[in-house]
Amino acid sequence: MSAWIEGTVVRLRPWTDELYSLQLKADIPSFTAGQFARLALDIDGERVARPYSFVNSPDNPVLEFYFILVPNGPLTHELVRLQPGDTVYIASRAAGFFILSEVPDAEVLWMLSTGTAIGPFLSILGEDAVWERFKNIVLVHAVRTAAELTYQDEINDLLEKHPEQLQMIPFVSREDTPLAIRGRVPDAIQDGRLEARAGIPLNAENSQVMICGNPAMVRDTTRVLEARGLKKNKRRDPGHITTEQYWKD
Ligand SMILES: Cc1cc2nc3c(=O)[nH]c(=O)nc-3n(C[C@H](O)[C@H](O)[C@H](O)COP(=O)(O)OP(=O)(O)OC[C@H]3O[C@@H](n4cnc5c(N)ncnc54)[C@H](O)[C@@H]3O)c2cc1C
Ligand SMILES: NC(=O)c1ccc[n+]([C@@H]2O[C@H](COP(=O)([O-])OP(=O)(O)OC[C@H]3O[C@@H](n4cnc5c(N)ncnc54)[C@H](OP(=O)(O)O)[C@@H]3O)[C@@H](O)[C@H]2O)c1
Repeated sequence: MSAWIEGTVVRLRPWTDELYSLQLKADIPSFTAGQFARLALDIDGERVARPYSFVNSPDNPVLEFYFILVPNGPLTHELVRLQPGDTVYIASRAAGFFILSEVPDAEVLWMLSTGTAIGPFLSILGEDAVWERFKNIVLVHAVRTAAELTYQDEINDLLEKHPEQLQMIPFVSREDTPLAIRGRVPDAIQDGRLEARAGIPLNAENSQVMICGNPAMVRDTTRVLEARGLKKNKRRDPGHITTEQYWKD
């Protein structure tokens, strides 16, 4: 177990009634983009800890975490009450293998996220390595409603900086919007809508795919990709699919 370090809340930014970004200052050792930290609060005399992906890149001294208020969720119900200056405990050592060094080289990197799982991709996109390794990067953010398409300013900055390399493809499943694909990611891979929108084929020869968030989406997307010949990445048996699930199905 790593030790707890006291972090200080800089800001709690509400995006919607359910979605929040928490900014903290804490003197933690460096982490790798794509990793998560364990955050904790003392609730009714017990330290309640949960993992959260870093949204900031490692060179940014303000730590940022993007979370959803989960119905009856013990920790998130307290996180949403935080005020600037409050203390949040953060485990001294970051963890996780949803990082670029675990992903083999390819021409195209597909970054597929649901909900709050856009976070680790923003952390990775804030560093040089990803732009040096992949010719094309397709960032997908799949949400229920358009209001949940957050971090637009940060994404637009990345699009301006890397116009030839980066595409952002939003998915909204529960309402019609002018720009987003309506529906779910695995369906849009299966019926070709994702590739058509990107103008890039998704296959085992040209692509690496990182998938993060809702476990059902991770599972269903993995199945669709496996059916077209992509396979999971293993250290001793490199493939094409690297995943992280935010909870258990
Ligand atoms: C590696 C890893 C990284 C994670 N990173 C993030 C992150 O960056 N942002 C974040 O919001 N959560 C993240 N989570 C989930 C987070 O750790 C908590 O589980 C979540 O914030 C709810 O905490 P809770 O104590 O309120 O409820 P819990 O008792 O932990 O969760 C209750 C239920 O809520 C649902 N749930 C949990 N997390 C989510 C979620 N993100 N979106 C939708 N439903 C969820 C699940 O059904 C879960 O069983 C991550 C989890 C893992 C394993
Ligand atoms: N977002 C909200 O407004 C809201 C409000 C209150 C509570 N919550 C709670 O917060 C949690 C999750 O909310 P969330 O909005 O982050 O996420 P979510 O339920 O994970 O949905 C995010 C996106 O993933 C899609 N998805 C779900 N299952 C999938 C699958 N098997 N394959 C492909 N795509 C799939 C959803 O499509 P579908 O729409 O088709 O499912 C949606 O577009 C839930 O516990 C929920 O009860 C959310």
